[in-house]
Amino acid sequence: MLSKYHWWRDAVIYQVYVRSFLDSTGDGVGDLAGVRAGLPYLRKLGVDGIWLSPFYPSPQHDHGYDVADYCDVDPLFGDLAEFDLLVAAARRLGIRVLLDIVPNHCSSEHRWFQRALAAGPGSTARARFHFADGRGPDGAAPPNNWHAMFGGPAWSRVTEADGRPGQWYLHMFTPEQPDWNWRDPDVGAEFDRVLRFWLDRGVDGFRIDVAAGLYKHPELPDSRDPEADARTRDSVNPLAWNQPEVHTVWRGWRSVCEEYTARDGRERLLVGEVSVPTAREHALYVRSDELHQAFFFDLLSAPWEADAFRKVVSEAMQDIAGTGSTVTWVLNNHDQVRTVTRYGEPATEGSGLGAARARAAALLMLALPGAAYIYQGEELGLPEVVDLPDDVLTDPIFHRTGSRARVRDGCRVPLPWSGQASPFGFTSGVESAKPWLPQPDYFAEYATDRALADTRSFWHLYRDGLQLRSALPQLGEGALRWLDSPPGVLAFVRGDGLVCAVNFGTAPAPAPVPGSPLLSSGPCPAGELPGSTAAWWMSDGTAPDTH
Ligand code: NOJ
Repeated sequence: MLSKYHWWRDAVIYQVYVRSFLDSTGDGVGDLAGVRAGLPYLRKLGVDGIWLSPFYPSPQHDHGYDVADYCDVDPLFGDLAEFDLLVAAARRLGIRVLLDIVPNHCSSEHRWFQRALAAGPGSTARARFHFADGRGPDGAAPPNNWHAMFGGPAWSRVTEADGRPGQWYLHMFTPEQPDWNWRDPDVGAEFDRVLRFWLDRGVDGFRIDVAAGLYKHPELPDSRDPEADARTRDSVNPLAWNQPEVHTVWRGWRSVCEEYTARDGRERLLVGEVSVPTAREHALYVRSDELHQAFFFDLLSAPWEADAFRKVVSEAMQDIAGTGSTVTWVLNNHDQVRTVTRYGEPATEGSGLGAARARAAALLMLALPGAAYIYQGEELGLPEVVDLPDDVLTDPIFHRTGSRARVRDGCRVPLPWSGQASPFGFTSGVESAKPWLPQPDYFAEYATDRALADTRSFWHLYRDGLQLRSALPQLGEGALRWLDSPPGVLAFVRGDGLVCAVNFGTAPAPAPVPGSPLLSSGPCPAGELPGSTAAWWMSDGTAPDTH
């Protein structure tokens, strides 16, 4: 019932990583005009909205997650006029537009940070960031022992106006990304202005970067286990993340959204990137007066095992959906190894296994109650590009740690659209630069023109799944009931009779419903659910009218 009135509760949003989507100028970097050109493709796919990765003026140390000006467009991606055209075109096609907002940190080139550097210790300009004196007799040791998420200490020392080494400032990611001090009222007021700037330009909401961040422990004490804090990209340092005060910010932002809805009836959406240890803590971020959605990453990090998936889904249904909010499912994004590759390990188990599992996982995700996010290229079944040479890697994680272990370039390689050779239709326009990351030759097999022409492609699976999702009242928002199933198989019912089953094993299992499925991730004879396959059936054997 609720879903009929709140579009976002079961929306499917497509993440556009702008620099890798479509390049309209030929400079090798995707741009906003490219996104606009790609809208009909996304409409055909059937998504409800898009989330645009940051396109603001930025020195691009972390591909735009280092924002120098929150209210403009970097010339690399276009300008505000092009942005307005994109929003208008999306509106005409019924595609909602979410921006990526980065409130935990900015760029060291942001005018407020530059002002803070110039203003010196004790100034109001420095109070907007976390500046502190170092420890030790000459202040040469950082103020505490925190690690940055991308390697190295979380503090850098500045040179003061007199040329001497001075205070330190906090940056939980790279030194080029100083953390804002949300205890300073100027910061909240500035973000209120930023939200309104973009809402006035017609956006439908925001994806919020590091939404469990913002506030740090007021005393910035030493961490008891700094090595553990540094082991994961997720926000685990309990002194730096998930402080209770952050919830006040989300209440404030929610009320700004409600204010706009009251004016024009269009519901805006706030979706947070919330990395917290448990589903229960996660649920606090999606209370009815806070964020509408928060990405639930446990599905993404679960190994390909029936028990692991069942545990993650059950916990989310109980601890998040159980509180009346909606679960927001994700299998891929611009920070993670793509599913086709992730599920393909160990590679010795047979080629095509990763792709089969990724297809099955997609049908599972689209059958779960709640909202879902698709990362560009996921609908093409793109694998991770695992053999990019070191000298093309741009991820600050690689440059700061010297290790390829968590490097994110491999899922950010520009999309293939057509043709047999790079740039595969990714770039057009007056210049003819190479794509900013090299595309492997095998991308030809995944190009959108081939995917659209082949009804067995990933693209058709996603499109058919999305079509059924909008046609069938059983899917989207609502409850889920597990069915008994053999070991290695998960089966559940949605509404009054849509059954979804996934076989995580490699040997066939009996199907939970006789007859042919409505949709399956691979060949699926009546009565059987082959290994590494998911399928949807109506339990009464009917086929819905999707036209
Ligand atoms: C999370 C974003 O998804 C990631 O790409 C970025 O590097 C960090 N936040 C820091 O902004």
